[in-house]
Amino acid sequence: MSGTCVIGLQWGDEAKGKIVDLLTRDFDIVVRYQGGANAGHTVVVGGEVYKLHHIPSGVLSPGVMNVIGPGVVLNPPVALQEIDSLASRGVQLADNLRISDRLHLVFPWHIAEDKALNASPVGGESIGTTNRGIGPCYRDKYGRSHAIRLGDLYRPDFREKMERIVDFKQLLLAHLGSDELLVAGEIFDEYSGHAARMKPFVADTTNYLLDALESGKRLLFEGAQGSMLDIDHGTFPFVTSSNSSGVGVSAGSGVPARWIKKTIGVCKGYTTRVGGGPFPTELADEIGQRIRDLGHEYGTTTGRPRRCGWFDAVAVRYAARLSGVDSLAIMMLDVLSELSEVKLCVAYELDGQRIEHFPSHTDDLRRVKPVFEVLPGWQQEVRSAGRISDLPAGARRYLDRVAELIGRPVEIVSVGPGREQTIFV
Ligand code: IMP
Repeated sequence: MSGTCVIGLQWGDEAKGKIVDLLTRDFDIVVRYQGGANAGHTVVVGGEVYKLHHIPSGVLSPGVMNVIGPGVVLNPPVALQEIDSLASRGVQLADNLRISDRLHLVFPWHIAEDKALNASPVGGESIGTTNRGIGPCYRDKYGRSHAIRLGDLYRPDFREKMERIVDFKQLLLAHLGSDELLVAGEIFDEYSGHAARMKPFVADTTNYLLDALESGKRLLFEGAQGSMLDIDHGTFPFVTSSNSSGVGVSAGSGVPARWIKKTIGVCKGYTTRVGGGPFPTELADEIGQRIRDLGHEYGTTTGRPRRCGWFDAVAVRYAARLSGVDSLAIMMLDVLSELSEVKLCVAYELDGQRIEHFPSHTDDLRRVKPVFEVLPGWQQEVRSAGRISDLPAGARRYLDRVAELIGRPVEIVSVGPGREQTIFV
């Protein structure tokens, strides 16, 4: 009868999928509630690697219900491909998946619009979106007149509604210099096919979740992206188009905050970022490249190399407070094992002044200089550590200092990709 949330505290790719997968056994329902095919959640089970975009990570645990809530923007062909690919590997989705009829759909014009706009810089730099049509789809949701929700596919006026939107979008795309040709009839046929295949999963998930909570079910909310990419509270405009911090859980799922009893904040022992935007602790050097290589820091969705840098306690402290975090999961600790020293950013310097708060404007964030604390590296393998006491003293000191700087206890430490490479403190 309560909800627990797993929220990323950095710029996404914190390995939240692994934590959700590990915790799932204690829950009845796993809920995705924002984002869409821009997300890429990697879960490793028995050496098998699963990359999920829309489908909640709970799908890899038998007996768990998986819900995709109204705050998600869903791309039907991508979601169906995911379902097929899981089925081909023996993971069946039938009565263990429900997709909200209220969620908004991504159409080909959203992707064309994203690609056309991605090239134009905002504030001197491109946002570097994933080109999955996420921003344009959310824009249409808020604009309302050009939006199509999943439930609309099953209504008699779907074709007429879509034709009207296609007329407008074709004009818009031509103005944006896109050569995308939208043929309403073809899109209608394609999406009608998707609608038929998705029908068994479509439900009013808002009422379903409220009923589930009232009847004592335990819910696990799986955040996508990270708190620093939150549309309202992140590094705007270099953010995604949804509330990807803890504040987005209620709006995206329809579950009021009173049901949420615990939030686990997930962060790596270092920082990564994909796409544009300021990144105070970025390492554009050999150490950054080493972290990228050791951590295989290349995007799950786009394959882009991730920008890498030291752990930024100013950003994570802000994200932990914003997301209402109770405890921390520190991921990829093994990646730092080879380094002779590790650095923690404990404050920023802005215009000669030391600051410990995260600036609200990206122009200020661009100008800050990180203030680092240097700790000796542990240079010892940690991948087989099963308990905190198995870790080298240097690694334990690092974790203690992170907890102290963020003001939250460390509950989970991940020392490798496998389920078994996890320490519960
Ligand atoms: P969009 O979400 O595709 O609009 O991209 C906006 C920004 O968020 C870009 O900088 C992306 O690289 C970033 N982004 C979106 N989804 C993810 C994710 O799942 N992990 C990391 N970065 C992401």
